[in-house]
Amino acid sequence: MAIGEYKPGLEGVPATQSNISYVDGKAGLLEYRGIRIEDLCEHSNFLETSYLLIFGELPKHQELEKFEHSINHRRRIKYRIRDMLKCFPDDAHPMDVIQACVCALGMFYPLRDLRDIEYIYGATIRLIAKIPTIIAAFHMMRQGNDPVPPRDDLSYAANFLYMLNEIEPDPLAAQIFDVCLTLHAEHTVNASTFCALVTASTLNDPYVVLAAAVGTLGGPLHGGANEKVMLMLEEIGSVKNVKSYLEAKISKKEKVPGFGHRIYKVKDPRATILQKLVDQLFEQSGHDPYYDIALELERQAMDVFAEKGIFANVDFYSGLVYKKLNIPVDLFTPVFAIARVPGWLAHWKEQMADNRLFRPTQVYTGLHDVEYTPISDR
Ligand code: COA
Repeated sequence: MAIGEYKPGLEGVPATQSNISYVDGKAGLLEYRGIRIEDLCEHSNFLETSYLLIFGELPKHQELEKFEHSINHRRRIKYRIRDMLKCFPDDAHPMDVIQACVCALGMFYPLRDLRDIEYIYGATIRLIAKIPTIIAAFHMMRQGNDPVPPRDDLSYAANFLYMLNEIEPDPLAAQIFDVCLTLHAEHTVNASTFCALVTASTLNDPYVVLAAAVGTLGGPLHGGANEKVMLMLEEIGSVKNVKSYLEAKISKKEKVPGFGHRIYKVKDPRATILQKLVDQLFEQSGHDPYYDIALELERQAMDVFAEKGIFANVDFYSGLVYKKLNIPVDLFTPVFAIARVPGWLAHWKEQMADNRLFRPTQVYTGLHDVEYTPISDR
């Protein structure tokens, strides 16, 4: 690439140096700190993986215990944050709610010094601990109910599912949800992580950094796609409508949610893991007709898309898992946000360790020396 050549969407342009995660889009490989995602999903859990991402290596027993304990005991949110939640419209998108509340959280824990290890540890713990509580509290309140207080005795994943409806989840459901969080925890320099890096580079506080990232994640080309997939499956309604739906999308040159990826040119490894989870979940708690629609859609889409390197991505199957776990559709992207917090924090720390303000250049395409026209002559 010639220096100064403009690449729309910065495709292929390195924005940073990082040793947090690695994606090989041709081989369908994803590693966090060098460990394959398949191994982490099988042997680790979300909080241990979060530690790995943020601190760079797997924790020793005591380190993990301290990390988990700190998070479990900081899940409650201040009553002023709860009061703030009461003021939002019931139909506010929960992603907007998270963004506003994460910013507000920062006001309660003002920036001390970005080199202060205690401040950094505290912010890390709070952001991981409190975002699930904020989402669940808003969900309860928009239905006219009191928020369900977090339970310190439940695992991170189980507690979130519990706070959504005050029912302790089945262990398999909680375990599968934990794997979903692990799968979404980090994915190199995607749009929201890039946004976090840019905000971090201005030396703003970590709460603002995360709020910026949350705002970026919400768009339908990024984290918002999982919600769009479920709405699409509902719109298709039955296996027999798949063909006509796909034909209409293709003839109108519209994107099919849940397919395609800037980096992966084979099936997203996370989609493969999720598909196995869907099978496990349905085996235990009954089949879902939307799964048949999804399978048929993927089969037919491959006939057209595979040769262009477009395959199912992580969002294609995650919605089916979340629906089976009784998570409402508009909380799918917030769940993605919960999961991505450790990834964003890891990149924030990496940026802080070797910071330079982001200030790219542009290719100017406008005019020069234009004469000013008085308003009466326009
Ligand atoms: N459905 C149909 N066609 C698709 C497609 C999809 N989901 N994704 C990409 N394509 C096609 C484009 O139309 C384009 O075709 P063309 O070359 O004939 O014009 C080609 O593939 C390249 O697409 P482009 O949008 O330039 O690639 P990108 O790298 O910018 O796209 C995404 C990446 C994720 C933005 C894109 O695949 C997309 O919009 N997918 C749907 C949303 C989604 O699931 N996002 C979650 C990602 S994890």
